[in-house]
Amino acid sequence: MKNQYPNYQSSQLQSAIPILVFTADELSQWLKKQKQFIRNWVKCEDFNAEPGSFCLLADYKGNLEKVLVGFDGKPTIWTLADLPYKLPLGKYYIETVFEDQLLQQMVIGWGLGAYRFSHYKKSERKACSLITPKCCNQKSIKNILESIYMGRDLINMPAEDLGPSELADVTFQLGKKYHAMVDQIADQELLRKGFHAIYHVGKASRPSQRAPRLIDLQWGEVSHPAVTLVGKGVCFDSGGLNLKPSSAMQLMKKDMGGAAHALSLARMIIEDGLPIRLRVLIPAIDNVIDGCAYRPGDVLKMRNGKTVEIGDTDAEGRLIVGDALVEASNGRPKLLIDFTTLTGAARVALGTEIPAMFSNNTKLAQQIQAFSELEQDPIWLLPLYQPYRQLLASNVADMNNVGKSGYGGAITAALFLQEFVSDKIDWLHFDMSAWNYDAKPGCPQGGELMGLRALFSYIRQRFSVRH
Ligand code: BES
Ligand code: ZN
Ligand code: ZN
Repeated sequence: MKNQYPNYQSSQLQSAIPILVFTADELSQWLKKQKQFIRNWVKCEDFNAEPGSFCLLADYKGNLEKVLVGFDGKPTIWTLADLPYKLPLGKYYIETVFEDQLLQQMVIGWGLGAYRFSHYKKSERKACSLITPKCCNQKSIKNILESIYMGRDLINMPAEDLGPSELADVTFQLGKKYHAMVDQIADQELLRKGFHAIYHVGKASRPSQRAPRLIDLQWGEVSHPAVTLVGKGVCFDSGGLNLKPSSAMQLMKKDMGGAAHALSLARMIIEDGLPIRLRVLIPAIDNVIDGCAYRPGDVLKMRNGKTVEIGDTDAEGRLIVGDALVEASNGRPKLLIDFTTLTGAARVALGTEIPAMFSNNTKLAQQIQAFSELEQDPIWLLPLYQPYRQLLASNVADMNNVGKSGYGGAITAALFLQEFVSDKIDWLHFDMSAWNYDAKPGCPQGGELMGLRALFSYIRQRFSVRH
């Protein structure tokens, strides 16, 4: 419904430029009511309100007065998301009226498009700012954007500067900021505490700051419902002795993308002050080569006592996440979510943009799908198809860490993880790319958080106290 101006605090609008969003039909209606020189200019610019196009209008002094933006009549979170670096530097506001929730999404989309990873290279220029309409929840927008920025930064950071100890440092800093308890079990201590898989998979990475560890953050009151997040924290995945070819290794700094998701969602939950007893578990390792690296054919004893024959050292994620899931299950959370960049097979199934979701509770998964649609944050459900469990059989151990057939690789990986989760716990498993391979409006090339807005929205409605 577009019939009146959205509300802004008038003081904010000083020297801000209005943005008008039009379909081709709406543009021609609007032009009829404009002065001849505007009609001439829009024609001169050949602006027909094509989706993704825009047109700058100047006043009679030649100063920018308005921006016209074309769209297909279906406003989305990404409708304005390409503009922060395309428009002349300045302050803007949306003059067209949309439903409150859509406006809020467009402001978030703008913010996501304004992100650049500028740790090693100055941005080409500053991003334009967009004034938040009164109807939007400014605090919530800020929380979502800052949390996603944090997660993207972590994924984009090279492995040299973000190893297992730096990942722990980031968690300790979060803990300090939000009065959460953070602990870590590192190196040999992992063996003593029964996290053999995390130790053996990560032991080849020698200097002590790169030693394997399990990072554990806890926050919230004991009386509140428990939610536990687990994130795969492989700071670099070379494949280990089953070495990846160079092209497949190139992006493997992003293999801690799951950890970035867990920390980013944790930040959203904590900053929002949700009445949740939150726990974040991050097994953090490097999967690299050394004389003492774990080998194909080795047998590992997992935290729950199950033995696993190593069929491929490149299937390292499920081993370390498996150990963490046993620990997570012991706390009997109401909801257990793991985030992983687990398989190339999930990318073959769904492409790079859609995270694969698995769950032992179909109703829960359907609810998450509904939030995914509502928040325009794609997630797709794949099955925990039990007959494929036999593909993980081993002659020497309880199971192998890879499937006998390469087919259905995302499903066999998820079934492997299911061995470490109690049936009584509602569990969601995500297998995602955590990376924008090509830049799209609102999605700059590089690290990406996928499905998190949908999950945060679900968690917020499920666990908020209703008044
Ligand atoms: N981190 C990779 C999976 C991955 C690759 C995620 C590319 C995103 C993009 C994981 O540790 C891995 O190497 N998995 C193997 C499993 C195989 C050996 C059964 C894979 O997918 O090839
Ligand atoms: Zn791997
Ligand atoms: Zn990996």
